[in-house]
Amino acid sequence: MSERLQTIFAPLAQANGLANEHYTDPQVHDIEKRALFFDTWAGLSVASEIPEIGDAKPISFLGMPLLIIRDKAGNVRVFQNICRHRGMILVSKAQRIEGAIRCPYHSWCYSSEGRLITTPHVGGPGKNAHPEVDKAALGLIEVRSHIWRDVIFINISGDAPPFETVHKHLIKRWKDFDQPMFQGGENSKFTINVKCNWKLAVENYCESYHLPWVHPGLNAYSRLEDHYHIEEAGLYSGQGTNFYRQFEGDGGYKFPSFNKLGKKWGDSAEYITVFPNVLMACQKDHAWSAVLNPISNELTTEDINIYYASPTTNEEMREANKKQWKDIFIEDILVVEGMQLGRNCTGFDGGRFSPAMDGPTHLFHSWVANKLLNNKSLRP
Ligand code: FES
Ligand SMILES: [Fe+2]
Repeated sequence: MSERLQTIFAPLAQANGLANEHYTDPQVHDIEKRALFFDTWAGLSVASEIPEIGDAKPISFLGMPLLIIRDKAGNVRVFQNICRHRGMILVSKAQRIEGAIRCPYHSWCYSSEGRLITTPHVGGPGKNAHPEVDKAALGLIEVRSHIWRDVIFINISGDAPPFETVHKHLIKRWKDFDQPMFQGGENSKFTINVKCNWKLAVENYCESYHLPWVHPGLNAYSRLEDHYHIEEAGLYSGQGTNFYRQFEGDGGYKFPSFNKLGKKWGDSAEYITVFPNVLMACQKDHAWSAVLNPISNELTTEDINIYYASPTTNEEMREANKKQWKDIFIEDILVVEGMQLGRNCTGFDGGRFSPAMDGPTHLFHSWVANKLLNNKSLRP
């Protein structure tokens, strides 16, 4: 694999993309799990999914059962969703936990901060303690997490540099948007399942090249020539437009803009992938995030949430805006699923990149290749 990966680093005009096995082979998917997700800051969910203290939600991520919970102090925490006794799954459906997290098997109980509190009959009938069972050492296994723009990012290996260090460039780029934003409720979220490897969703998001043919409606007012590439090697890539048209309702209603945005954001909007798996958008009157959850090497769930500058925006307009974006995400399904099928053709060599249009996609491939080649657990 490593020799083939080196070819990704050829100049854009000569490079081939990632080989078929990165999309079709479950064993390669397993390797990528560790190198691209466990060792980095990957998107898991959004904090607004668990708004109140005690709210808990189980999520399976790359086959690993995790639990997000808002603890008593109001902090979001992520735990491996297993009991330290015999490894039983602790929480199987979203719920508000009033007291403790109780294991359904033998009733060991944990606090929302993950401390093991009670161990009934662990020392024999009627004896709730045993000198060899040290509760202090048997808390839930916490996964390092960081929230940015409502997205819960996790570093499963625990040894990545801090999120703010890894993404300081992007945080600075979007500093104007570092202000309160409000998830618009049920009519501002949707989920889409796509039968493709998660990387194809990223690759498609990185480029504007496909707009005229896949999104003719969008292209009618935000044309190909209005777009620019966003390329920060080793960090992130995507595209932006210099002609952002604000969504407008029948009576001329517009969503309020975020406060004190710089001049650039009057007409511009940006669409960036925070590697590996979070698609983000910043526009003057709303933002969104799409967290990709790879269910398998050829199945991906996309969870989209839309955010506004005010907690009280027009409900019908939010519904209409959600429909607009959902339609665009649905338009993309045909091509990402088509590319996935195409990767079963033995003659496909990873394809070529347009030297003018595919720089951001090539940058993502280089990020993948680099992470795989440098992963400590994969080095011979
Ligand atoms: S497995 Fe949880 S209490 Fe036994
Ligand atoms: Fe698209």
